[in-house]
Amino acid sequence: MNENHKFKRLEEMRARSRLGGGSARIEAQHKKGRFTARERIDLLLDKGSFREVDAFVEHRTHDFSLHEQKFLGDSVVTGWGTIEGRLAYVFSQDFTVFGGSLGEVHAAKICKIMDMAMKAGAPVIGLNDSGGARIQEGVVSLGGYAEIFLRNTLASGVIPQLSAIMGPCAGGAVYSPALTDFIFMVRNSSYMFVTGPDVVKTVTHEDVSFEDLGGASVHSEKSGVCHIAGDSEADTLYLIRKMLSYLPQNNMEDPPFVQTGDNPLRMENALDSIIPESPDKPYDIKEIIRLIVDNGELFEVQESFAANIVIGFARLGGHSVGIVANQPAVLAGVLDIDASEKAARFVRFLDSFNIPIITFEDVPGFLPGTYQEHNGIIRSGAKLLFAYCEATVPKLTVVTRKAYGGAYIVMSSKHIRGDVNLAWPTTEIAVMGPDGAVNIIFRKELEKAKDPVKRKAELVAEYREKFANPFIAAERGYVDDVIEPKETRPRLINALEMLENKRESNPPKKHGNNPL
Ligand code: HXC
Repeated sequence: MNENHKFKRLEEMRARSRLGGGSARIEAQHKKGRFTARERIDLLLDKGSFREVDAFVEHRTHDFSLHEQKFLGDSVVTGWGTIEGRLAYVFSQDFTVFGGSLGEVHAAKICKIMDMAMKAGAPVIGLNDSGGARIQEGVVSLGGYAEIFLRNTLASGVIPQLSAIMGPCAGGAVYSPALTDFIFMVRNSSYMFVTGPDVVKTVTHEDVSFEDLGGASVHSEKSGVCHIAGDSEADTLYLIRKMLSYLPQNNMEDPPFVQTGDNPLRMENALDSIIPESPDKPYDIKEIIRLIVDNGELFEVQESFAANIVIGFARLGGHSVGIVANQPAVLAGVLDIDASEKAARFVRFLDSFNIPIITFEDVPGFLPGTYQEHNGIIRSGAKLLFAYCEATVPKLTVVTRKAYGGAYIVMSSKHIRGDVNLAWPTTEIAVMGPDGAVNIIFRKELEKAKDPVKRKAELVAEYREKFANPFIAAERGYVDDVIEPKETRPRLINALEMLENKRESNPPKKHGNNPL
């Protein structure tokens, strides 16, 4: 063989590898409205930045005559590239080869780039499109998944791990994403389930479609497993790029500073009249957030799940921040099981990656009732409390209206190491709302009253006047200042910059035992 032959062979091998499962299967993938593994990488990474590894890897299995079907690169494309100029590692499962299923070498390829990402301190993005463990490889594929799960766990809190579900994903192909920080799905085209509709029918005799079992809407609205749903594959990959812009490369870095062009001293007069006169009237907390953050941009996470709490990323004076906000427009902003768990996990993510937490508080308390109690609101509420207590990143709190009971404590109060806690004049801080409080402490008096309705109204008004304001808390230093709402943006940015070199740590330990 002369040199030319050698080069030609390389060229041929590369071409074969690029073809994955072959033109017919690529066409079938396109017909379903889906991109191939490689096309997805091209959309995700900066143009021309992808460097592939292990394009020539092949499986080694003989069982079920698998040795007669070999595909260069097997069923996953792996490597690294850049996103907005920053290094990122990526694996993209190839559904055209054995349905993207994961066997020994597929797993080894993913583990290789995860190990590289840990050494280089850069995010890993997994584009999942897989039927899970490759059935023909048996326990070897289970072992392969186990190797990935271990790495997902060890990498947690060290490098950001983002997962996108791009097709029908089952088994390990959903459990690995579940161990990562955020899961993205494509509406009407991607599915997540432990086992697919066929197995469901055999085991539980339920007839259910892919969409109803594990589509993006189910996981965005009901289970909360999906954090972000894109309208198309391209949109989903764009949203991954966008989320990364708020994150540091690893836990040893600060998040990137971006010049946003929005004046840090900007006052917003509209905020002064945004809280309704009546304390029981709802308003949209997102309107407030957008008036305060840079250019009104809030990158919301889990938008359609537990909408009584809002979480997401934003920038304040160019600094990346995480927002956690009670939403009075949904269930009066009450904390229930789902809202507590949603916010707790986000707070822990932010703390892992040095992203300051901005809490907007207007919460009537924890949701009472048998459903909540029987399903563990005590445990779920404790998760949120634990997460806030443990967090050592800068924590800024703005109380816009109600801060009642346990919820006052939980939502980043001063007592659990809130750094700067500000209250608007519309704030009401007390053990509980006037109505409930009067019912309990004046029960006997009300029973004896000639006109209990009138007497109750008087007592409620008295209670509100006495307790439902920010000044009792301010008198004790439980809030650092009472401010005019319009000043909120400059005050928060000032506090963030004051806390730029904040140092705080927890006692040395292996790890805490948070109430999972
Ligand atoms: C080997 C697989 C496969 C698998 C799919 N294929 N899944 N091959 N191992 N796990 C192959 C199919 O045989 C088919 O090959 C091709 O991929 C496309 O699959 P289809 O079924 O035609 O596609 P579709 O109708 O879109 O359905 C996709 C699917 C379904 C929902 C993913 O294939 C499915 O239910 N697969 C099995 C899912 C599963 O139960 N996996 C094991 C999970 S256990 P041909 O050549 O015919 O086109 C697991 C262990 C880890 O993962 C546990 C972690 C805790």
